[in-house]
Amino acid sequence: MLSVVVLISGSGSNLKALLEAADNPLNGIRVLAVGADNPASGLEHAELFNVPTFVVAPQNFENRQAWSDVLLENVKFYNPDLVVLAGFMRILPPSFVSALSPNLINTHPSLLPEFPGAHAVRDALAAGAKVTGVTVHVVDAGVDTGPRLEQRSVEVLAGDSEHDLHERIKAVERQLLISVVRDIAAGTLNLAQLDPASQNSLAQPSANNFH
Ligand code: GRF
Repeated sequence: MLSVVVLISGSGSNLKALLEAADNPLNGIRVLAVGADNPASGLEHAELFNVPTFVVAPQNFENRQAWSDVLLENVKFYNPDLVVLAGFMRILPPSFVSALSPNLINTHPSLLPEFPGAHAVRDALAAGAKVTGVTVHVVDAGVDTGPRLEQRSVEVLAGDSEHDLHERIKAVERQLLISVVRDIAAGTLNLAQLDPASQNSLAQPSANNFH
């Protein structure tokens, strides 16, 4: 059984999908707790599944290091096998990353290395991209730079708004995230065997074939 702590900042649709996946014993996933950097609406999903939650808000700390130290203490309290950043919109300092690496993964709404950062969907539209997508990757000290585990592409449609495109990406993202976590739980994907120094190419963007 792979034990997981999930960190979120927002509506938590990826979290909800993970909680639903964990509900199926065949997936071998257990969500131990969900943390957030604000009283995010997505925490309600955890409460519905009787999963404990914690909020560690940066504004209650003198600096980012002090904030992330307490966040890390909360995560470590549960001693998870894996920590999943599922829409967690803060950059974590190297001390947090190295304490959990390589068992710290993130989902990002673009085909990295294209469009890293907080506005990936907006940036893809602004660049006139015809195709964007989603990447699940191991977190390293950079912003969205860690070894890529899986990617899936999503077509940009004429007239797409940021919201419409992001919603279509998120539909794919939820399935990709679950698939990666399930593979880690099954042992078919071994994070300890990745070379953290390389932009590993386990990821080959595949067309979105869920529709
Ligand atoms: C996801 O697209 C995530 O990759 C991005 O923000 C979105 C969060 O969505 N960073 P949700 O909170 O899981 O609904």
